[in-house]
Amino acid sequence: MSIPYLRAAGTSLVLDARGTGVPVIVHWGADLGDLTDAMLTTLADASVPSIAPSSIDVPLRLTLLPTLAQGWSGRPGISGFRPGRGGSAIDLRLVGVRSGERPTGRFALPGTQTLTLLLADAAAQISVRTDLEISVQGVLRLRHTVTNTSTTAGDAAFELGSLDVILPVPGRAGELLDFTGLWTHERRPQRSTLGHGVWSRESRHGRPGHDDSYLMVAGTPGFGFRSGEVWCTHLAWSGDKRAWAENSPLGFSVLGSGELLAPGELGVAAGASYSTPWTVAVYSDAGLDGLSARLHPWIRSWSTIRTPRPVVLNTWEAVYFEHDLPTLARLADAGAQTGVERFVLDDGWFTGRRDDRRALGDWFVDPVTWPSGLHPLIEHVHAAGLDFGLWVEPEMVSLDSEVARAHPEWVLGGVPEPSATETPALTWRFQRVLDLSHPEAFAWVFARLTALLTEYPIAYLKWDHNRDLLAGSAHRQTAALYSLIDAVRATHPGIEIESCASGGARIDLGILERVDRVWTSDTNDPLERQQIQRYTGVLVPPEYLGGHLGAATAHTTGRTSELSFRLATALFGAAGIEWNLVSASAEELGQITEWITHYKRLRPLLHSGVVVRADPSDPALVLHGVVSRDQDSALFAQVALAAPRDAVPERMRFPGLAPERRYRVTPLLLGGSPRTIQDTPPAWHAALGGLTAASTTVADAASGGGAVTLTGAVLALVGLPAPLLAPEQAALFAVDAVD
Ligand code: GLA
Repeated sequence: MSIPYLRAAGTSLVLDARGTGVPVIVHWGADLGDLTDAMLTTLADASVPSIAPSSIDVPLRLTLLPTLAQGWSGRPGISGFRPGRGGSAIDLRLVGVRSGERPTGRFALPGTQTLTLLLADAAAQISVRTDLEISVQGVLRLRHTVTNTSTTAGDAAFELGSLDVILPVPGRAGELLDFTGLWTHERRPQRSTLGHGVWSRESRHGRPGHDDSYLMVAGTPGFGFRSGEVWCTHLAWSGDKRAWAENSPLGFSVLGSGELLAPGELGVAAGASYSTPWTVAVYSDAGLDGLSARLHPWIRSWSTIRTPRPVVLNTWEAVYFEHDLPTLARLADAGAQTGVERFVLDDGWFTGRRDDRRALGDWFVDPVTWPSGLHPLIEHVHAAGLDFGLWVEPEMVSLDSEVARAHPEWVLGGVPEPSATETPALTWRFQRVLDLSHPEAFAWVFARLTALLTEYPIAYLKWDHNRDLLAGSAHRQTAALYSLIDAVRATHPGIEIESCASGGARIDLGILERVDRVWTSDTNDPLERQQIQRYTGVLVPPEYLGGHLGAATAHTTGRTSELSFRLATALFGAAGIEWNLVSASAEELGQITEWITHYKRLRPLLHSGVVVRADPSDPALVLHGVVSRDQDSALFAQVALAAPRDAVPERMRFPGLAPERRYRVTPLLLGGSPRTIQDTPPAWHAALGGLTAASTTVADAASGGGAVTLTGAVLALVGLPAPLLAPEQAALFAVDAVD
């Protein structure tokens, strides 16, 4: 155990835990194969670097918690002080190594290997426990727990500055990918080259934010979806956080992540402990798809999702605040006709909520709009064969609300007396935050939520969070949020929850442990959605990613898109509709009905298969799909985001199929044929770029329908002619093994 070696699914981690120093990370990356203890010792010895000129007089090694006392001048793994005793560097010693402890709760997964390291600094009177796990899918999780070991009553707390997970990446991983974004434009990728110094992304939103770094990926130059070695970290936390990459002139590159703590936010009292959120770390030698290939099955192994993802009809962009029983009943009926399975009543149902300026916190059904409560609507929805979901925003409060008037002390950041001269704290979307760390505020909102769930047969909550905190402790608020969701789920175990934060401002593995769906973005514009879903989906499996069919002209961008493009885009997630179907034409309703029929048929594949994304050389083109785990079937989409670079686009090469098996490729037309640049050819030929039986001499063109049958290897390596799609069009292809 002095050289722990954890291996799973092509990934391995080697530590050097000899002696009393903080264990050194010898290797994190590709699997190194079977290694005897003697070989591991040789590897650890051989990994000791030279002593650099003008440096400490022993070799500098990167440990699991690097600090100045070890000669590490990069960002430390831990920082903190005791008031009145400042100045001394933290100097931890290894006091124990344990393996084989079973992870708890949802993460007690078969085959997970664990390792626990116990460290202590007697002078600083702290101990640190580091937990490492590697799942059978090769996903590594790490966290630290610091304990104030002082036994002197009344001793000052240990004021924690930072406690982070830091992992090495090799020098060849010199290209970085992380994300930024805006409301309705989440998960915009940004690439950079890691020079000497720190590339750091910090969130002080009290939620990850629309500009969340999301993943910090370091890879070999030019890595793509299908190629390159990549090392990636993600912090499973929904509050303030930071993620960084650092390259030091001493020859180290690292990825780091942890909760971003404000000064004085986290004092660890004598005998008390603080655990960091888990850092999830994944390596792949097959690009970003290789990360998803580990992350998705791992997430599925602990996911709360138990049933096929129902087709949702959400009222927001359909009616906004115009709530009345006849309108909503007609909408539910229209949805039911097309095959919708869940009706979600969005914002606007509670006391006095006619616009977004008031009433958050007053979680009582509005007696004017709903004199008999929500019962008549829910009964109507149920009679139409749908289940019922309700929008709430439990962490928020409007100043214009009964609850804020009665309990201004529950408002995070406080509310000045009407006569006071102080400037009130900022509102955001005219609202403030309810201080969930206030026990009475917590108890009250918990009571309101559970009262609603008890009174009404609600299958689903859409749980929103529409502003940054800008006050209070993000740590305490986030911990209280988790407790609130956990408590609601404990009392109503059947409830499903969708997490929303003005769209995708809170999508992380901390919240994903507690919810069944995320609202990926507030935009239903398919062009924006193509990119948002593509990159959000590197981490989160498609069954979580809410995607809705919106109106032809998107409310968020004003861009008009054809039905076929909107349908092809929303198909690949947890599909739904957010459009006033009452205004849809009979032809559109027919096409939507057909789409829902296909979605229901395809969702076992879409929600359990392997997500694959090709790397077309033309940035205007996207080719993505899902291949069933047994490689029997797949669905692909070829998408033109803009005008193609070439008159005849490069061939579509379909990744992820079994090379030796034979597959039939058939266009799937939903919402009509995608528009092509050619003169209106027949639908099926248009979908394959004018491919005719005569031109398929490379293949044994199947009889009937023009479908093409080829081996997985040919489809991946040579591919098929791409349809000449006009901009903002998508063509779908069903792929089925015929052997
Ligand atoms: C946020 C959500 C939307 C909708 C509105 C309601 O913006 O992201 O989907 O629920 O709130 O106010």
